[in-house]
Amino acid sequence: MATLGVNIDHVATIRQARRTHEPDPVTAASLAMLGGADGITIHLREDRRHIVDRDLRILRETVPSGLNLELACEAEVVRIACEAKPDEATLVPERREEVTTEGGLDVVGDPSRVQRAIEQLREAGIMVSLFIDPDEEQVEKSVELGADAVELHTGSYALAKGNVRQQELQRLMDAGAKARQLGLKLHAGHGLTYQNVQAVACIEGMGELNIGHSIVARAVFTGLKEAVADMKRLVVEANWSKR
Ligand code: PXP
Repeated sequence: MATLGVNIDHVATIRQARRTHEPDPVTAASLAMLGGADGITIHLREDRRHIVDRDLRILRETVPSGLNLELACEAEVVRIACEAKPDEATLVPERREEVTTEGGLDVVGDPSRVQRAIEQLREAGIMVSLFIDPDEEQVEKSVELGADAVELHTGSYALAKGNVRQQELQRLMDAGAKARQLGLKLHAGHGLTYQNVQAVACIEGMGELNIGHSIVARAVFTGLKEAVADMKRLVVEANWSKR
């Protein structure tokens, strides 16, 4: 059965929109774990647009297991990861101008940077996963470079419609089968929603799903009514107390 890693980057995005202290992703992580999350995923981006170093530091203390740090193959963040020692590091491609991670890491096209990062992280005792497109060649290269796991990019599957969606699911299944055959742990994520998650969760050997946007989007709506009611109560009570 797959475990659920909850990506809380979006909570930090809201905080950073005002550069204030709320909502705190540390609190989000605690609530996610109360809700049944098996792990917490955060992406420490080079531009620190959402998660910042302080979050990683505190989350390492408050998330007892299953802390998954996404990071680029860049010396500075690799060094920070080696010091923080998350339970798992997922290497992802990163471009400043992107809205979210676009496409998987090209481990075939640019193996040396990836390999260096894998070696440093593993030396620090951190399990390493590579976020790759569901492509057998990328899976084979991931094993060769010494990864412990691959996270298959489910974005194309999530965006596909009709017959193409089934084809994309098949690509995920084929790449997943290759990963397991070669002894890699199998993870998947990106663009998974309440509507499309189950087919991916059913893939043979699926070990971990990392999901963020859809969960935080739903939380806004399941929590909005209560949040407004709390504020309304304060406004009404203030008027009463003036009389
Ligand atoms: N996995 C990886 C490697 C990601 O970069 C992201 C997005 O930060 C996710 C999973 C979660 O994707 P989503 O927010 O679309 O659920």
